[in-house]
Amino acid sequence: MEYLIKSALAATEIAPSSGPSGELFSAGEKAPMAALAPSLAHRAEAGSRGAPDEGAALAPAFVILAESAADMQAREALLDRAMGPKRRKKSSEKLRRGRRPSEGLAFVARDPSGAVVGTVRLWDVMLGEGGPAALLLGPLAVEPGLKSGGIGSALMRHAIAEASRLGHSAILLVGDAPYYGRFGFSADRTGSLAMPGPYERHRLLALELKEGVLDGAKGTIKAAGRRVKALDFVA
Ligand SMILES: CC(C)(COP(=O)(O)OP(=O)(O)OC[C@H]1O[C@@H](n2cnc3c(N)ncnc32)[C@H](O)[C@@H]1OP(=O)(O)O)[C@@H](O)C(=O)NCCC(=O)NCCS
Repeated sequence: MEYLIKSALAATEIAPSSGPSGELFSAGEKAPMAALAPSLAHRAEAGSRGAPDEGAALAPAFVILAESAADMQAREALLDRAMGPKRRKKSSEKLRRGRRPSEGLAFVARDPSGAVVGTVRLWDVMLGEGGPAALLLGPLAVEPGLKSGGIGSALMRHAIAEASRLGHSAILLVGDAPYYGRFGFSADRTGSLAMPGPYERHRLLALELKEGVLDGAKGTIKAAGRRVKALDFVA
């Protein structure tokens, strides 16, 4: 399994949005994974660590899917393992609490057994009073034992692509520029924006999906997402 995950970046494949491509999955894994209709499947050659055997069976390392109601417990447990209990004290949490993620923008990565091994969600926010709408990304987390296998990057790329496809204008997050810079995020356009609580200014990063949308954006970022209803599955 470790080999499959580590190899995933070297052999990623986008499955048709209408459904999974059967060729992505080995016989043993095809049925359960296919039923999940992945939007992205990341596969690796099942074989030796060197040059894969010609004709070796292809097995998925992980797939990226829309989060479902049934994923909530597994996602929260993963976040606790990956980030610890302090995660709930972050300023970003103020923008998420009591809200639902932006429509169609909550994703999980699953391993071939179906277990949740990665999570990312995006949230609707407003940039200052009457300012432009944007998304806040986070938390992004990967199963600790599977770090550096490309799951985080795949979740990020998928999230950005979907946000763009859905017509959003910009994504903000609080995180490490050395990691998020590879996806185009920087603090260049966030100097006049502020989180609604303590945060490190240099870690407030943004990515414009529509050029110029952050021009003149200023003020405190506000929650603008759909409110959680009593029986909603998202916290
Ligand atoms: C951050 C995280 C989501 C990355 O997921 P991942 O699947 O390990 O990421 P990828 O495999 O796509 O990328 C791994 C690379 O990113 C680097 N990286 C990971 N976190 C980094 C950070 N905070 N700053 C700089 N580089 C980082 C790794 O060193 C690795 O580098 P390499 O490719 O040169 O080996 C994961 O490490 C995680 O869950 N961390 C704990 C939760 C967390 O901190 N979330 C982010 C909140 S801001």
